[in-house]
Amino acid sequence: KFLDKVLVTGGAGFIGSNLIERLIEDGDQITIVDDLSMGLKQNIPTSDQVTFYQKSITDSTFMKELLLEQKFDYIYLLAAVASVADSIERPYITHEINQNANVFILETIRKYKLPLKKLLFSSSAAVYGNNPKLPKQEMDAVDPLTPYAIDKYATERFVINYGRLYNIPTVAVRFFNVYGPRQNPKSPYSGVLSLISEAAIHHAMFTVFGDGEQTRDFVFVKDVIQALILLTKKTDTRHAVFNVGTGRETSLNAVIKAYTEIAQHDIPVRNLSERTGDIKRSVADISSLEAIGYRPNYDLTTGLGKYWQSL
Ligand code: UD1
Repeated sequence: KFLDKVLVTGGAGFIGSNLIERLIEDGDQITIVDDLSMGLKQNIPTSDQVTFYQKSITDSTFMKELLLEQKFDYIYLLAAVASVADSIERPYITHEINQNANVFILETIRKYKLPLKKLLFSSSAAVYGNNPKLPKQEMDAVDPLTPYAIDKYATERFVINYGRLYNIPTVAVRFFNVYGPRQNPKSPYSGVLSLISEAAIHHAMFTVFGDGEQTRDFVFVKDVIQALILLTKKTDTRHAVFNVGTGRETSLNAVIKAYTEIAQHDIPVRNLSERTGDIKRSVADISSLEAIGYRPNYDLTTGLGKYWQSL
């Protein structure tokens, strides 16, 4: 009845739930494992194609049983302590979740020779740290500075090299600054666009750290989903890491200006001093992803407009 059996860890989260939406359209049978530490149950679309387990990926007994019983075609590893600040507060538990739980999944696939069409791990542009070279290319030197970045980088290597060593089809992605519907604005360390949205909706003050001339590669979540689907469905693409962004560099000031036009009212701004450890400029080289057919469809204005409508 269904096309493929798909596991999405972190499927109740921001990026995960957007992926679920797409997988439902594609006719897949989807299993979500999410402990709702970051995600929300109401993010998950109601569908008879979806089975949801409120479980931590660190529950290895549960995960092993699930993997052995279901024999998934595709696995998307999106569950994580997703906040860098949180990882600095809780480095050890972050490691258990962001690295060990994922390595356990790889090990289970290896040990029981589970058949699999593709496993995809979500890493982060945070692995580049303070390397100032722009645009950021996958082969550039990394500089993981926080527990979050260290675990993302190490797990990327586990995923790619377990793939090579044990012939498991794997890929990893490095997300740049993803934004869009269902991004959670509840922490001060949430993505800046979710925080600007909160301010815009409530006609509240938005705080810019620094002069607002810092730049990022803001990528709309639907483009991210395009990349994830491409990378999993291309059978000859494996054992490599891909930047996921737009290749366009936008300053925070430009974002605020564009958003003011979309919201059709001023977003009052105050400037405080720069955030410690903030990087000044960031933009992805996306030529590897383009080479397999990826084209970002949402420029900033279009993406922000869609995001605004969803609020
Ligand atoms: C991302 C991480 C961050 C990590 C960094 C490492 C997220 C949401 N953040 O930060 O935790 O240290 O990668 O690579 O994934 N800003 C404001 N006002 C605000 C919030 C943010 O001016 O209220 C500024 C920040 O200072 C920054 C820019 O907006 O210059 C973007 O911030 P953010 O969305 O946190 O992303 P990154 O800085 O890329």
